[in-house]
Amino acid sequence: MANNSRRDFVKRAALGTAALFAFPNTRVLGANDRVRVGMIGLGGRGQDLLKELQQVRNAELVAVADIYNRRRDEAKKMAGGIQTYDDHRRLLDSKDIDAVIVATPLHLHAQHFGDTLKAGKDLYCEKTMTWSIPEAEQCLAAAKNSDRIVQIGLQHESSGALADAKNWIKNGVVGKVTQVNSWMSRNTPHGKGQWVRPVPSDCTAQNVNWKAFLDGRPDRAFDPYKFINWRLFWEFSGGNITENMVHQIAWIMSALDLPLPTSAYMSGGVFSEKDGREVPDTIAVTLDFPDIVLTWQSTFSNSRYGLGEHILGSDGTIEHVAGATDMVSGKSDEITRYFPEKSHMQNWIDCVRSRKSPNAPVEIGYRSAVAAHMANLAYRRKQRVTLEMAKAATPE
Ligand SMILES: NC(=O)c1ccc[n+]([C@@H]2O[C@H](COP(=O)([O-])OP(=O)(O)OC[C@H]3O[C@@H](n4cnc5c(N)ncnc54)[C@H](O)[C@@H]3O)[C@@H](O)[C@H]2O)c1
Repeated sequence: MANNSRRDFVKRAALGTAALFAFPNTRVLGANDRVRVGMIGLGGRGQDLLKELQQVRNAELVAVADIYNRRRDEAKKMAGGIQTYDDHRRLLDSKDIDAVIVATPLHLHAQHFGDTLKAGKDLYCEKTMTWSIPEAEQCLAAAKNSDRIVQIGLQHESSGALADAKNWIKNGVVGKVTQVNSWMSRNTPHGKGQWVRPVPSDCTAQNVNWKAFLDGRPDRAFDPYKFINWRLFWEFSGGNITENMVHQIAWIMSALDLPLPTSAYMSGGVFSEKDGREVPDTIAVTLDFPDIVLTWQSTFSNSRYGLGEHILGSDGTIEHVAGATDMVSGKSDEITRYFPEKSHMQNWIDCVRSRKSPNAPVEIGYRSAVAAHMANLAYRRKQRVTLEMAKAATPE
């Protein structure tokens, strides 16, 4: 838990935004003006976001603040001419930055959220918005009292699938929805826990501002494992609920326009790899909403069903799935099927050794390719294409 001084600090930062309606130093951007972006935290996600940003027309990452030397060096390699800071407050002081991406560990979001708005910058804050409910209240209030643009890193909210789901629900084709079932599943090689990252050799007390990472939490000696693997510990993380459930819950809540849940239940534990992590790897959550019950299940020891959501309505079903989706048809309820967890790459490597035929040998490669080309040819010719016609056709 955060200690009092830190809580007060976050509160002050949030309250400070109450007077943020006008910023004398804030640029008014025209349609063709370049948006100059700063980033706080250039770790795994920050680096992905930097690449995404580089694809966006008329936007540029001009500065990065990170408390780990290695990340600042990486920033310079990834984006030439970039300014780097070892303290996010210096980045926020810069008049040359219009907007800020916060991609720090979860426990720091509220602090960086509040500070960014206070500095008069627009904000993209990675999910989950905050580490706690009080922080969420503070950030909500800060954003409402500000005229800054705030986007949370829930990228599925920008998906076409959500737009479709909303329309179907609004148009009444789904009928009355009383239940939503959702799930998210992954697997890792045995003995390698999900999310566990190796600690780089340069991750030392000299190269990391550990105090800034703790940000008011009880002081202690530098712990490189926790600094790198913060996701595994409650003090800094909310585990898979804040890493992944949040994406799906946001999607479902938006689709159905749900209010806050009236109650929640969750069971599970650390079952997959007992590697010292605190946050559960196996989870079943039930959330109650007025007249709707929502479930979310998660495991890190089986990836068969990927991830998805089933919105069950009296007149129809919305199925939104990703990953392995060829589930038991539902018509064959007397059959129990077994799907072993196998890696396609592993199978190939195994066959390189055993000289056996792999799971997707050349024959299926050939047959599926021909089928695909026949389909394309029919499309391009706007006519039914026989195998003979396809074999005789000149490729174009
Ligand atoms: N939207 C998505 O799909 C998605 C995917 C992955 C991660 N995330 C989120 O992105 C965030 C970061 O995750 P990650 O995997 O990149 O973590 P990470 O540990 O790889 O990166 C965090 C970075 O923040 C830096 N940092 C720590 N304290 C700091 C401070 N006080 N000031 C400045 N920098 C500081 C660290 O040095 C590190 O470089 C998390 O909130 C995570 O949930 C979102």
